[in-house]
Amino acid sequence: MAKNCLCLTAKTIDRNLEILNKYRKFVEIAELRVDCLNQDERLNIRRFPELAGLPVILTIRRDIDGGRFTGGEGERVKMLARGLAFASADTRLNFAYVDIEEDIEVPSLEEAARTFGTKIIRSYHNLEGTVIDIPAKIKSMQRTGNEIIKVAIAVKSTNDVLQIYKAAKACPVKEKIIICMGHLGIYSRILAEKFGSILTYSSALSEKEAAGAAGQFDVQDLAELYRIKKITKKTKIYGIIGHPLKASISPLFFNSIFTQEKMDAVYVPFPTDSIDNILDITKELDVQGLAVTVPYKEAILSKLAKCSETVQVIRACNTVYPVDGKWYGENTDIMGFSDSLLAFMECKNLKRKKITIVGAGGAARAVASEVHRLGGKALILNRTAYKARNLASQYNFRWGVLDEKGIELISKFNDVIIQTTSVGMEGYEAADPLELYTFTGKEAVMDLIYMPPQTPFLKRAAFAGCKTMNGYDMVIRQACFQYKSYTGKEIPHKVLSRINTLGESKWSMIRIG
Ligand code: ATR
Repeated sequence: MAKNCLCLTAKTIDRNLEILNKYRKFVEIAELRVDCLNQDERLNIRRFPELAGLPVILTIRRDIDGGRFTGGEGERVKMLARGLAFASADTRLNFAYVDIEEDIEVPSLEEAARTFGTKIIRSYHNLEGTVIDIPAKIKSMQRTGNEIIKVAIAVKSTNDVLQIYKAAKACPVKEKIIICMGHLGIYSRILAEKFGSILTYSSALSEKEAAGAAGQFDVQDLAELYRIKKITKKTKIYGIIGHPLKASISPLFFNSIFTQEKMDAVYVPFPTDSIDNILDITKELDVQGLAVTVPYKEAILSKLAKCSETVQVIRACNTVYPVDGKWYGENTDIMGFSDSLLAFMECKNLKRKKITIVGAGGAARAVASEVHRLGGKALILNRTAYKARNLASQYNFRWGVLDEKGIELISKFNDVIIQTTSVGMEGYEAADPLELYTFTGKEAVMDLIYMPPQTPFLKRAAFAGCKTMNGYDMVIRQACFQYKSYTGKEIPHKVLSRINTLGESKWSMIRIG
């Protein structure tokens, strides 16, 4: 189990203590970032461990390593010495750890630390993201067998994370902290245990002083949502792959179920720039199931050993899990979508309904196939003409592009308008793909996006008096199907209704990194 370490980055000792007390129940260790303290406050760091009442790391991070300390090395060493001075025989009153960068050489400081039981964290920060030979680096960093080695690298790609993971696994050093900084490496912080780290750093992100490294999780989320303290080598891993993957309800949904069902499992966001590399990592991590989201629903197809018939027909897959060590693909979007749309329309099928589908990508293919199955007639409108034409021809639907001519066609297909593109989604441009269309107010309008809860498109529809629905209901329904695919079990009704009481507003707060 990796420990949750809260980085304290406020300007005063008192404020740091206030923050620590607020989040104490979530953490086992705190890091006092002296470089974030006001000058005069830096004189008072010695008593901090006693005041904190839990093991504390003494750190004075330089600006070149991502910290705020801009003074000279002499001054910094003096400050570190002040933190370690007047060591007490009662080690709880001393700093438990001191972070000393691998490139500084101050034997007297190290001697003082060792004498009074302050453990040295020998750290290396690489903000450039250059991938290095980690085992060699660790070997060169280690001065005595009793030190904790910390390597923090700002990763630029999933391949960087993969190389770091492999190196970490191969590294025989027992006490180490390996961090892939930045959005593409966020799962190295949740899966710290699997990366061989003894602790993971978190921030109190709701406090204005939060200034932790890029990709750090909120202290409470790490403890309660990801249950960091419960993750062991045996914990089953599930997750979601996508890019940029800035928001998803899936981690909250699945982790809430795992908690309530007392399952030894964790659901992790895996933002990635490479489908091949993320599949390599998830294989290494023995991941038991993945959701696949934008932009990989089609790209994943060539990586599957087998898939359901629906996936073959619509050429889009949003759910994969290993069968005999090889990926099997399904599409639960499609089931979630039709259940959700029919409930919204309060009908059993779409016979006699005229529908406009905006977009012609993977999501649109799923929507078109269900609209056809349920007896609806549709118009496909897309930015790129040939994709609209290809999709429409499969079902004998009409098609057009998102220009004035295409928009005019909507008047004959305006019982329901379904928006399937990524336009307006969190992390993308906040635009309206149908800006040329004037709503009559009679259309039923569905946007598959749920984050933000109301896209500019949906807002305009609601303002015109249309009945509207976002993709929240659909995503919950498809996630229920996913859970069944992964575990072979239904989500107990009681658990689901408890999760639903969390409400959409809570889900909509879920942002990743
Ligand atoms: P998904 O699996 O989520 O459907 P996709 O297959 O990449 O993702 O499809 C994205 C859809 O959003 C496509 O219809 C795309 O239009 P193009 O076919 O012209 O690429 C649409 N889309 C993405 N960005 C868009 C934009 N800025 N304006 C209009 N449509 C856009």
